[in-house]
Amino acid sequence: QKSAQQSASPSDGSAPAAAAEAKEIIVGSDASYRPFEYQNDQKEVVGFDVEVLTAAAQKSGLKVKFVNTPWEGIFQALQNGDRDILASAITITEERRKSMDFSDPYFDARQLIAVGKGVTNVKSFDDLKDKKVAVQTGTTGDEVVQKLLGKTSPNIKRFESMPLALKELENGGVQAAVGDNGVVVNYVQNNPGNGIVTVEDTKSFVAEQYGFAVKKGNQALLDKVNSGLKAIKADGTYDNIYKKYFGS
Ligand code: ARG
Repeated sequence: QKSAQQSASPSDGSAPAAAAEAKEIIVGSDASYRPFEYQNDQKEVVGFDVEVLTAAAQKSGLKVKFVNTPWEGIFQALQNGDRDILASAITITEERRKSMDFSDPYFDARQLIAVGKGVTNVKSFDDLKDKKVAVQTGTTGDEVVQKLLGKTSPNIKRFESMPLALKELENGGVQAAVGDNGVVVNYVQNNPGNGIVTVEDTKSFVAEQYGFAVKKGNQALLDKVNSGLKAIKADGTYDNIYKKYFGS
C-alpha cells in the first residue's frame, strides 16, 4: 500500500514534494573578494559570507551550493533565475532595492583608500580629484569615485575584480584604489612589500551594510534567511565566524 507521501509524488518521475522542499539553493558569489568570498586551493568558494549564509540556511533547513559568479553578471544571474541568492559582500542601496530584495544586514562596511608606493600627497578622499583611481566596475567604490571625479572621467580605471584593480595600483598604473575596507585591508596584509598603504578618511564615506540579495518578491527565501540570521546572531555562531575572519 502506498503511503500518503508516495501517492503525493508526481507520476512523471520528478522529485516528490518533500524532496523538492529540500532542494539546493544556488548561491552566486564573486569569489575574488577575500576574506568575504574567495576560492581555496580546491577551488571551493569559501569565506566569511559563505560561512554566515551556510549557517543561517542550516537553521532554516536549507541546503546551499555556492557557485563562483563574476561580479559583472551577478545581478543578471539573479534576475534570470540562474542563482537563487547572492552572497557577495553586496552593499544594500536604495537603487539596488528597486530591482532586488535584501536580507537583513549581516556586515558593516565602509570605503577605504589605498595608495601606491611613494604616493605621499593623499591625505583624504578629496586629494584623489587629480589622481588616477582604480575601482571594481559597478561597485559602491566606483560610485563614490564617480561623484568626485565625474562619471566619465578618464582618470577612473575600472576593473572586473578588486584584485585586478589593486594589481594595477601595485604596478603603478594608478596612484590610488578605492574599495570595501575589509578587502583592501586584507590585500595589503597579504601582499607586504609592495608599498601600498591605506589612507583613513572617516568623514568622506558613508556607512554601508552588506545584505544577501534575492530576486524581487522571493519573500519565502528571504524569510528563511532572515530567521536563520537571527538565530545565528542569538546563539553565538555569527560571533564565532566573525572572530575567525576579523579577530575579536
Ligand atoms: N560592497 C560593494 C558593492 O556592493 C562591493 C562588492 C563587491 N563584491 C564582490 N564579491 N566582488 O558594490
